[in-house]
Amino acid sequence: MGGGSTTVFDAAPARARHASRGAPAAGSAPVRALQRQLVDLASQRYRSNGRFAYHFARGKLGGDPMFIELLRLGAFSGQRGVGTRFLDLGCGQAVFASWMVAARDLADEGRWPEGWPEPPRVATVRALELMPADVARGQAGFADEPRVQVEHADICQADFGLVDVVTILDVVHYIPPDAQDGVLQRIRTALAPGGVLVMRVGDASGGWPYRLSRWADQTITLGRGHGWARLHCRPVADWSAALHALGFQVHAVPTPGGLPFANVLLIAHVPHSPAEGAA
Ligand SMILES: C[S@@+](CC[C@H](N)C(=O)[O-])C[C@H]1O[C@@H](n2cnc3c(N)ncnc32)[C@H](O)[C@@H]1O
Repeated sequence: MGGGSTTVFDAAPARARHASRGAPAAGSAPVRALQRQLVDLASQRYRSNGRFAYHFARGKLGGDPMFIELLRLGAFSGQRGVGTRFLDLGCGQAVFASWMVAARDLADEGRWPEGWPEPPRVATVRALELMPADVARGQAGFADEPRVQVEHADICQADFGLVDVVTILDVVHYIPPDAQDGVLQRIRTALAPGGVLVMRVGDASGGWPYRLSRWADQTITLGRGHGWARLHCRPVADWSAALHALGFQVHAVPTPGGLPFANVLLIAHVPHSPAEGAA
């Protein structure tokens, strides 16, 4: 699939730029302060669940700048005020769900910092994962949280239902190439008008940082006892073109800071109306 008619933006998407107006700069002291607070809150639910689950949650949420950046950009702003229905595909032990619930809890307690986009009200998070051990850690972590359901499922087969936000973070390259477009198509069908897909991909045109990130993925997968993963990557322009072809408005945002990996966030909106899509 070529990227001929695809526009890839290196800046924050227009809606996110609007939502994040006034939010502190990426990597600044206020950003790091909120990140620390959220890491403490979000990892608590894994505490009674064994050392691995707890420290993994802390390491992932504190070490990967994507999580705080999603909030700083307001990637999910503008979703239904009554409560956003999330679907997280390939959720691992569901640290993303934990992050969003922690952010919203902080806002509900009146402790959300001024100038930041308001985090969405979490109606539900349905989190799907293939690996039984990750599912078990996720389910144990959310045993007392009715908004979050962690399910054992293969995202190439599972029914996605109807939701407002789909996240698929560092997952799509584990899926065989002939199944990837089917998953994207079903994500599009699952999203209501105005819905948003947030997908992080490794950019196969990203040179040595790309090779470094794929090596890291394979090493981690091997270290967790899942064997040597075959990864199926594409240049970011190809992912973007595939999403455009499904009717999404797509913006690409490089993940700031952290290790020099060639990871790119694609924030893809379903237009509210055909007129908006054509604009
Ligand atoms: C690198 S991890 C990312 C986990 C999580 N999204 C995060 O950001 O913390 C990739 C995850 O995708 C899961 N995965 C891969 N293929 C899958 C499939 N077909 N169905 C469900 N989960 C899958 C893996 O088991 C793994 O937990």
